[in-house]
Amino acid sequence: MKNSIYECIIVPLTKIHNRAGNITVVEGNISLPFKIRRLYYLYDIPAGMDRGGHAHKKLYQLIVAASGAFEVLLDDGKNKKVVRLNRPDYGLLVVPGIWREIFEFSSGAVCLVLASQKYKESDYIRNYQEFIRFRRNFGKIHS
Ligand code: TYD
Repeated sequence: MKNSIYECIIVPLTKIHNRAGNITVVEGNISLPFKIRRLYYLYDIPAGMDRGGHAHKKLYQLIVAASGAFEVLLDDGKNKKVVRLNRPDYGLLVVPGIWREIFEFSSGAVCLVLASQKYKESDYIRNYQEFIRFRRNFGKIHS
């Protein structure tokens, strides 16, 4: 089956270093397998709080710890893995059809997300049982 957690890979990003600090550039279709149509970021996350808790039907995302650190649980309905992000020059590619939860935010963490589509609530699956049903049909369509 396609779109498993194994397609959710860590993508090294360009890092241009000089003595006054670093700059990282992300370009859609070059660094990433999608065109960037939206950028958003999570910040001021109170200690112990979780984000995510949903899947997307079609959306591709790159998640970056622009500052601080956090963990991302990825679940394709069969396999799960937890990825820790703590460097602004690495991103986590999340392909469509993956349940994700983001937690263990460090103080001051900024979770930057580059996304392939504009915000659309109908692209979300917010119920885990519904996600499992979606994955069963997804398997039939994509295998
Ligand atoms: P959501 O994606 O559920 O947050 P998270 O996964 O980080 O916990 O979004 C939280 C709220 O923000 C929800 O009401 C929808 C809104 N929202 C937008 O209006 N536009 C966006 O681009 C995003 C990502 C969220």
